Amino acid sequence: MNTVYLDGQFLPIDQARVSVMDRGFLFGDGVYEVIPSQDGKLVFLDLHLARLNSNLKALQIDYHCEMQEWTDILSRLVAEHGGGRCSLYLQLTRGVQQFRSHVSAPGVQPTRFAMVMQPNEGTRGMRVITLPDTRWHNCEIKAITLLANVMYQQEAKRQGADEALLVRDGLLTEGAASNVFVVYGTQVHTPPLEGILPGITRRVLLELLHRHQVDCRELPIPVEQLARADEIWLTGSTLQIAPVLAVDGRAVGNGEPGTAWRRALHWYQRYLQVRRGGQDVTSNRIGVPAGRGTGC
Ligand SMILES: Cc1ncc(COP(=O)(O)O)c(C=O)c1O
Repeated sequence: MNTVYLDGQFLPIDQARVSVMDRGFLFGDGVYEVIPSQDGKLVFLDLHLARLNSNLKALQIDYHCEMQEWTDILSRLVAEHGGGRCSLYLQLTRGVQQFRSHVSAPGVQPTRFAMVMQPNEGTRGMRVITLPDTRWHNCEIKAITLLANVMYQQEAKRQGADEALLVRDGLLTEGAASNVFVVYGTQVHTPPLEGILPGITRRVLLELLHRHQVDCRELPIPVEQLARADEIWLTGSTLQIAPVLAVDGRAVGNGEPGTAWRRALHWYQRYLQVRRGGQDVTSNRIGVPAGRGTGC
């Protein structure tokens, strides 16, 4: 039986209960993270908790995730799952309130929930469609209110695609559950951090590309420029870096995963190994390239 964590307790999933007065249930008033685990080790947990804490602060939810406490909780869930490759889902809502009111009452305790999600989808070639980005203006918050994202991915599936690339004012923003990188010759472009989620994988990949002297820029990407892309990549914690094979039914490059993608994935996976080996967890951690916001 899958064990989950709920407000201080480890329980079988079918015994975990949340009140119908929880503001997460009534309003979608909460935030979440998806944290990969490989060989029993949590990947970039410090970066995920930093983003979560930043989001909690932005929503004025009075809770701070302590690194040691959440390392212990999530590690225990991974161990009970049997280790291996999986992802952890961690959700915090503003908590349970006696009356339904948009305005939250003082003293409400957040509801803390975590579970193992499996299987990890892993890296694979993706077919995508483009759709208008109709979401709100606070997409930098990893909110549990994912209705628009759900609709985009349902539409992608209906059209036989794996992901939707979103377009606002003629510019690419991100995927429904991923960030996007576009390769033109030797240059790699990714949309700037405006109205998108500051993805952990995006951030790590940007830093690795800079380290390897790849000409990588955070620039607005007009959707019509996708037609001349040599490669397009999607990034996400469970996807890692995935090559896009086709956009709206039209092949990207020769329709095969590209050589730049192969190299980037190699750097990324090697970096994961180094970091997991304990050499790089706090002392030489990925920094934020100067002048770029992270939202973390
Ligand atoms: C909208 C959106 N953008 C980007 C990402 C990628 O973020 P990360 O690399 O932190 O997983 C996600 C992940 O779920 C997402 O939902």
